Amino acid sequence: MNRSNDDHHESNRDFYDRISNAYDFIADSSEHQARETGEKALGLQAGERVLEIGYGTGNTLLDLAAMVGESGSIAGLDISTGMRDVAQRKLNDQSPAAKVDLRVGDAREMPFEDGAFDAVFASFTLELFPAEDIPPVLGEVRRVLADGGRVGIVSMAEVKEGERVSALEKVYIWMHRHFPHLVDCRPINPAAHLEAAGFQVEQQIDLDVWTMPVAVVIGRKT
Ligand SMILES: C[S@@+](CC[C@H](N)C(=O)[O-])C[C@H]1O[C@@H](n2cnc3c(N)ncnc32)[C@H](O)[C@@H]1O
Repeated sequence: MNRSNDDHHESNRDFYDRISNAYDFIADSSEHQARETGEKALGLQAGERVLEIGYGTGNTLLDLAAMVGESGSIAGLDISTGMRDVAQRKLNDQSPAAKVDLRVGDAREMPFEDGAFDAVFASFTLELFPAEDIPPVLGEVRRVLADGGRVGIVSMAEVKEGERVSALEKVYIWMHRHFPHLVDCRPINPAAHLEAAGFQVEQQIDLDVWTMPVAVVIGRKT
C-alpha cells in the first residue's frame, strides 16, 4: 500500500468518527436517492455475495441485505469506528435476513480473499481518495471480485464538455483545493477510472444533487 497519504486517510477517519451520529441528517437526506439508484442499477440477485466500501451509517448495507436475502451475504469495510458503531446499531435494530460482516479498515488494502464477491458497491466514497490512491483501490476491487462480477460506483461527477459548471460545484472544487481538511471530496470521472482499472463500463446514469452532477456507473470485471 502507498503510505504517503496516510495522514489524509487518518484525518478522514477522525472527521467521519466525529460526524457519525449526525451524518444521516447532514448528508443522507440529500444523497439517498442517488445512493438508492446505484443500489438498484447493480441488479443484485438472491444469494449473491456483496461488499460495500465506505458503508457509513449502514443504510445501503440494509438495502443490499434485503436484495440478496437470507441465502446471500454482505460485507462492509469502513475506516471509521464511529460509523461502524452507528451501522452496527441499525443492523442490531433491524436484523436483516442476510449475514452482514462489518469490518473497520482501509479500502487501499482490503482484508478479503481474491474473488470473494459477486458485486462491490461504493457511494460517495471514491471521490474522497487522493487521485493517486484511486487506481490501487480499484485494483483491490478487481482482486476481491469474482470473474464477471460487477462494481457500482455513485460519486460526485465532473461536468461533461460543453456543460456549465454549477456554482455549487465551483465552490466545492475551490474549497477542496484550499481547505482539504474541511471539504474532503471533489468531483471525479468514475467511468474513466473504472475503464483505466480494466473494468468494462456497462451503464452510466447521470443525476444531480442540489445542481451538482452525480454519476452512477456500473462496471464489470471481464
Ligand atoms: C461520504 S461517506 C459515504 C457513506 C455512505 N456510503 C453513503 O453513501 O451515505 C464516506 C465514507 O467512507 C469512509 N472512508 C473514508 N476513507 C476510507 C478509506 N480509506 N477506507 C474505507 N472507508 C473510508 C468514511 O469513514 C465514510 O463512512
